[in-house]
Amino acid sequence: GEHLVVSAPGKVILHGEHAVVHGKRALACSLNLRTYLHVTPSTDGMVRMNLPDINIYREWKVEDLTRLFANKTQSEEVSLPPVYPPVDRFNSLCEIIGLDFMVSSNLPTSAGLGSSAAFAVALVSSLLKLSNQISDPGTQSFNPWTGDHLEVINGWAFIAEKIIHGNPSGVDNSVSTYGGIVKYQNKALERLSCKHELSVIITNTKVPRSTKHMVSNVADKLKQYPTVINPVLDAVEAISQRCQDELTSTESLDDSVIRDMMSANHALLCVLGVNHPAIEKVCRMTHDHGLTSKLTGAGGGGCVITFLPAETPEEKTQDIISQLTNQGYECWKTLVGGPGVGLH
Ligand code: MEV
Repeated sequence: GEHLVVSAPGKVILHGEHAVVHGKRALACSLNLRTYLHVTPSTDGMVRMNLPDINIYREWKVEDLTRLFANKTQSEEVSLPPVYPPVDRFNSLCEIIGLDFMVSSNLPTSAGLGSSAAFAVALVSSLLKLSNQISDPGTQSFNPWTGDHLEVINGWAFIAEKIIHGNPSGVDNSVSTYGGIVKYQNKALERLSCKHELSVIITNTKVPRSTKHMVSNVADKLKQYPTVINPVLDAVEAISQRCQDELTSTESLDDSVIRDMMSANHALLCVLGVNHPAIEKVCRMTHDHGLTSKLTGAGGGGCVITFLPAETPEEKTQDIISQLTNQGYECWKTLVGGPGVGLH
């Protein structure tokens, strides 16, 4: 049968974390750290899922999987959207052939970079393609799917995310499907066409944090000091807006705006109390090289994003990465604002 390789990107929050919980916008961008899914149809009625990077292997009889899926989707936990494409088409696809999946990824798990959504988007895209629910009408060979197809992919990936996470916002699967930048505000998603890809270093401090805990700390502060914290949230909103304008502008990118907005937002996140010594250390180390960083996501640990202006020499970048790595952090040099789900 047809061997398929599909990939989908992770995401990073550029601006608006925490403020988004209080009605402001957040900007989430795709990364070119991606999850690759290799699919080989088989004939023995088995579905195999192999994730060698993280030592996970599972296999199911197709008939068991079909039953499991029916139970899950009939339960109260997951309400399916108008069922398109028909679920039984998936079932018959599996019944006929069986499938072997192999997953490889350069996205870390549990780092707030949307690895589960990237997996979900790649998985549903491969199934939709194999069952001929989406064709490839696009002219681009890497991003063959357009409008309606992407909507279907995104809808199904959101269901997978709900099964994994309970009550996710839908930002991660949307960014992974469409790529570019997504604006998220009051539960409404808007795709923005990103005119500029930014080069960044993502550093994982590996300090574990509880998003729930960080979110409730900020809510407490807001309640206690509304006259102080509300203007901070308004300033974060203004930063997101300014950065959005810069990234979606057809004019050439002004690096200083990207830098200024990042350092301002980082300072405001510190005011909100979501900094951590490890985050501060990464910011200081990169600052010593003249670079600007901000925490990304919930804070209190987790990841830091560092902007690399286009003229940054590769030697300098590698130097910074090895210094950070020597401190026990994990780093990736990557682009933000790149393509969404793709076919290889
Ligand atoms: C966490 O990645 C982003 C937060 O704004 C929480 C949320 O939006 O649910 C801190």
